[in-house]
Amino acid sequence: MIRSTIESSGSYLPERIVTNDELALKIDTSDEWIVQRSGIRQRHVAADGEFTSHLATRAADRALARAGMAAADIDLIVLATATPDQTFPATATKVQANLGMTRGAAFDVQAVCSGFVYALSVADSMIKCGMAGTALVIGAETFSRILDWNDRGTCVLFGDGAGAVVLKAAQGNGTSADRGILAHTLHSDGRHHDLLYVDGGPSTTGTAGFLRMQGREVFKHAVANLASVVAETMGQAGLGPENLDWLIPHQANQRIIDATGRKLGLSADKVVGTVDRHANTSAASLPLALDAAVSDGRIRRDQLLLLEAMGGGLTWGASLVRW
Ligand code: ACO
Repeated sequence: MIRSTIESSGSYLPERIVTNDELALKIDTSDEWIVQRSGIRQRHVAADGEFTSHLATRAADRALARAGMAAADIDLIVLATATPDQTFPATATKVQANLGMTRGAAFDVQAVCSGFVYALSVADSMIKCGMAGTALVIGAETFSRILDWNDRGTCVLFGDGAGAVVLKAAQGNGTSADRGILAHTLHSDGRHHDLLYVDGGPSTTGTAGFLRMQGREVFKHAVANLASVVAETMGQAGLGPENLDWLIPHQANQRIIDATGRKLGLSADKVVGTVDRHANTSAASLPLALDAAVSDGRIRRDQLLLLEAMGGGLTWGASLVRW
């Protein structure tokens, strides 16, 4: 039975760090309010001329180096982003060119903050059905470009960054002891469009637009949907949350993360957190958090990880992985 193993991870954050105190110099907010409501202390912001494709390429380079692989070894790039360099072509094809990769297929997936689990599921499915033997799955965003810096309820919550993983086809026994991706669950409910969206686009206003959010409503949906999608995904593998070594939640808000962990009965030391340093980087948040915990040695071979996210759409989903 073919399954995808995650060979490595890599990430990249823009050099410039903007603290809450720095934001409070420009808008009517405070470090205290932002930390108390979200857990965020700082975010990275891309430099002028630094695009989503640049962040993605650097994260992909690092993941490839860690896997001991070259771009020429990759059959497929699936890149999740809601902030592409341009309306078209796909940012994935720019990354493909940057990496010097002249074969295979590259395309973008758009599911906002859930983008990385969607992209992982697409790449894993393509590997399972024999369309690719290797894949780069990337989440990359420059949300700083779609924030309304006059809307203090949203602009303090997001940041820029990118993360990537390398997938490889492997043989497994079809049990939860196999290394690799064990299960996915994806959901969406388009009726909730107005809770979190961008008020522009090529077919509507002809402009890129700005992020709009009904924070309280998103919060309620997040806690309910995320806890249930974790249980649903674990159940597919005949396991429960108690079997997890690490929960890697979407890094949107520490209060959502804590509430989800509590609902699942997980102790806080099993939950990876980077929202304090990265803020919400949308599709990049999961691979950034994953790479942080791999790089500092917390995540070890054969451990069981669950990645979960919810975002605009609404979309939500989870991936269960034996590292
Ligand atoms: N600084 C200071 N005060 C602020 C700020 C700010 N940056 N933003 C809002 N306020 C004020 C509001 O004006 C309001 O003041 P008022 O009572 O005088 O009218 C007060 O703070 C409360 O505002 P609320 O929006 O009701 O605050 P809430 O407690 O709901 O927190 C927050 C807002 C942090 C957005 C919260 O709703 C939240 O985290 N929601 C989840 C949204 C999220 O994480 N989205 C990410 C994308 S989706 C995903 O990834 C899951």
